[in-house]
Amino acid sequence: MPLNIIIGAQWGDEGKGRIVDLLSKQANIVARYNGGDNAGHTVNVAQQTFKLHLLPSGMIHPHTIGVIGNGVVINPVVLLSEMESLRAAGIFVNPKRLLISYAAHLITPAHLALDQAIENAKGKGKLGTTLRGIGPAYTDKVARSGLRLSDMLNVDTFAPKMVHHIETTNARLTKLYGAEPLDAYAVANEFVEYARKIVPYIQDVSLLLTDAINSGHSVLAEGAQGTLLDLNHGTYPFVTSSHPTAPGALVGLGLGVNCVDRVYGVVKAFQTRVGSGPFPTELDGDVALQLRGTGENPWDEYGTTTGRPRRVGWLDMVLLRYAHRINGLTELAITKLDVLSGIPTLKICTAYRSDKNTYTNLPFGITDLASFTPVYEEMPGWEENLWQARSWDDLPHQAQAYIRRIEDLSNVKVNLVSVGPERDQVIQLG
Ligand code: GDP
Ligand code: IMO
Ligand code: MG
Repeated sequence: MPLNIIIGAQWGDEGKGRIVDLLSKQANIVARYNGGDNAGHTVNVAQQTFKLHLLPSGMIHPHTIGVIGNGVVINPVVLLSEMESLRAAGIFVNPKRLLISYAAHLITPAHLALDQAIENAKGKGKLGTTLRGIGPAYTDKVARSGLRLSDMLNVDTFAPKMVHHIETTNARLTKLYGAEPLDAYAVANEFVEYARKIVPYIQDVSLLLTDAINSGHSVLAEGAQGTLLDLNHGTYPFVTSSHPTAPGALVGLGLGVNCVDRVYGVVKAFQTRVGSGPFPTELDGDVALQLRGTGENPWDEYGTTTGRPRRVGWLDMVLLRYAHRINGLTELAITKLDVLSGIPTLKICTAYRSDKNTYTNLPFGITDLASFTPVYEEMPGWEENLWQARSWDDLPHQAQAYIRRIEDLSNVKVNLVSVGPERDQVIQLG
């Protein structure tokens, strides 16, 4: 009865999309369970590059069924346009192939406007959100005033609900933030149109997935963002507003705890972060430039959703051990190992130091990392280009040692190593 969960073990953008694509070969159903179109998951297949924000990355395989769970927040404009762009690429998207939970919440123009207004008001202290309305949509959900997809099922009551939602948010936008109000009736009319298109996709995802798992189908849960951005367990307040961690998959899809088989932690071979917040192993200078790239290559470290340059640094094993604890990882998938080629000496952060103390676990979680300095271990790098490596033996011994050291320091086996952005540029160890 397998549910396999794929999570980001760092601050997002670990390469989850390409790992989901790989594992989708064996899956019947691929399900997004958290976040919204703040996610940007890249999958490269031959000459085609897909950048998915809301639809599960596994839908690129024609045999899969895609699911969007109750834990996701959905901007219908993005949803409909992503459906269209997949169709244009020859991928079937219809109510038989895509099922969306009735309990998923809507992102509206009011949420987008609030996200922008709140960030503006924070000035220098801004979170650096993706401005996709994620925080305000989840805020309404938690305040029990959000709009769910099930509201779209009844057009007569949906329109007045939308008007009420926009008008109440207008009061906040104008009075608290001095922002422009939205035209409630225009937005409501627009959303009634979206409802007509989306209603055929609305389902009880929990029921459907449970039945599928009980009849032996394999479900892959595709996490968005990463453990260190989790609302509860991340570097709060510099986090997203959902639960990207493995338990979030159960909450965000309506599944019981007994169906989980494997939990893959996707880990970039170094550390990146986009947006504000602590980053103990952050680098600048030449090595940072090499890790980030200049933006010429599609895999360079520039945000898939916002195009912002990502902050880069050395791999942080204190934080990876923490991610293992929070998620219960059964294995790791290491991505972008190829990017480390040509760096003479690699560093791995094995512990933190504060005053005279050394920590391998943090005393009070990872909220306040400012007072810690990383303790590094150095390892020799390698010159070889890894793009053609397809087996363990194809890797230079320094790269093998780097992988083994990650296993030793995290206490989790590495099952997959990705050595390039293309679908086949991967080494399976398990
Ligand atoms: P996600 O959000 O976790 O799915 O990751 P993103 O798609 O936002 O960012 C990962 C980037 O790295 C994308 O441009 C991928 O095509 C690229 N990528 C993934 N794995 C590898 C790899 O092993 N090597 C290289 N060079 N690029 C990779
Ligand atoms: P994927 O799924 C990297 C970051 C934002 C910001 C913080 C809060 O592609 O890995 P939000 O818009 O969610 O309120 O922003 O979270 N963030 C991501 N960083 N990858 C993502 O998704 C992210 N989604 C949100 O940059 O720091
Ligand atoms: Mg991404």
